[in-house]
Amino acid sequence: MVPPTPYPVNDCRPNPSITSTGKNSSHFVQYIGIATFEWRGDCLMKSMQHWQINPEITFLNHGCFGSVPRVVAKTQEGLRELLESDPIRFLAPERELEPKLDGVRKRLADFVGARPSDLAFVRNATDGVNAVLRSMRLHQGDEIVITNHGYNACNNVARFVAERSQATVRVAEVPYPLRDSRQVVESINSVMGDRTKLLLIDHVTSPTALVFPIVELIALAREFGARIMVDGAHALGMLPLQLDEWGPDYYTANHHKWLCSPKVSGLLYVRPELQEDVFPTVISHPYNRARPGRSSFTASFDWVGTYDPTPILSIPSALDFLGLPHQDGLIGHMRANRSALLAARDLICGAMGLDSPAPDAMLGSMLSIPLHSVPVDQATTFHARLRSEFKIEVPVFAGLGDSQGHGDSQKVCDSHGPINAATLMRISMQAYNEISDIEKLIDALSRLGAINH
Ligand SMILES: Cc1ncc(COP(=O)(O)O)c(C=O)c1O
Repeated sequence: MVPPTPYPVNDCRPNPSITSTGKNSSHFVQYIGIATFEWRGDCLMKSMQHWQINPEITFLNHGCFGSVPRVVAKTQEGLRELLESDPIRFLAPERELEPKLDGVRKRLADFVGARPSDLAFVRNATDGVNAVLRSMRLHQGDEIVITNHGYNACNNVARFVAERSQATVRVAEVPYPLRDSRQVVESINSVMGDRTKLLLIDHVTSPTALVFPIVELIALAREFGARIMVDGAHALGMLPLQLDEWGPDYYTANHHKWLCSPKVSGLLYVRPELQEDVFPTVISHPYNRARPGRSSFTASFDWVGTYDPTPILSIPSALDFLGLPHQDGLIGHMRANRSALLAARDLICGAMGLDSPAPDAMLGSMLSIPLHSVPVDQATTFHARLRSEFKIEVPVFAGLGDSQGHGDSQKVCDSHGPINAATLMRISMQAYNEISDIEKLIDALSRLGAINH
């Protein structure tokens, strides 16, 4: 099995077909037939002409809720108009909805390295985790393994499912900061056992922004005869994915984070052998009515009662937009974000006199930095001051197990003491961010006394 390719840094070649004065709207006109846009200026992606973020805010929190590019928002508006002009034609699965969803599914399948038939649409990653875990039949004494870096909402799904079947949840304590991805595998290995039925892990962890070594973790789950569900809420659009090659049992992701498509939409990959036993969180008509030529898996996730499919149908415009400025398309976009993150990391860790909290191989386009001089009980106030006094939007967590529920920690330590007693600040670098955003943040941290010179 081939591990994820770490794409080279500092190799962001522009797309030669775009000139600084040229017009290139053909991708969007061709696909959607609705939204067009014009590239202007040299700094293509960073131009606020393309993004809706208030330019008065230094926005370093793409990880929580990503912003939608203007052209993608316009695409969605156009789709909504089409929907309202002829709702039955647009929404009836057998008329236009299924073929339209299939078109998007095919595009996404190419992007994530999977077969279209193994992909379903969900509302978001929380929905994807719920669909899988609540479809499982667990028994008394079975175990689900989660980690202290897991997203609280999804760890709660594990707890809920376990409580109902008298199963147990075991929490692997992964250290942070760390030096090597083997530390992740070792910590998880130490709590896996004969009774482990499911390993639930984040691909990119929420409070600590670590890229977990999922190829190794998939192999580990197999060794124990357990299934593995990967929560890739942040991974889609941040990292190259090769789902078929890696072979997780289940993988869910968001389109509305790093893929910049409209809220709300996500995907769920399920290995073909397991699809018959995975149901959406909403049971609707397809449960007892087969759709000709479609698997029950595809049909049941395609119709979960009346819903707005325009966020899903806008995905191709987001894929087009993000990839357009780069010679190698979306890979180039992801690589550019990661390069920006590594430059931001060097700057901020340098200013704070900190070592990188994680090796480069475990970083994508987010980084979580321990703020040792901000006591956990002041994390909320600190966050509010960054916003109100400096107009900087950046998440600040009160340790791994903070009240926002971004983690699940008891006793993770670094050289400064228990990290669950340390305040964490997570920065995100998206195409609209500049290194000057990080300079503003460093200045604010310094003024607020979070940097000890
Ligand atoms: C790892 C992880 N999983 C799941 C989610 C939840 O995403 P959503 O609310 O879109 O389901 C998040 C949100 O930040 C996350 O970080």
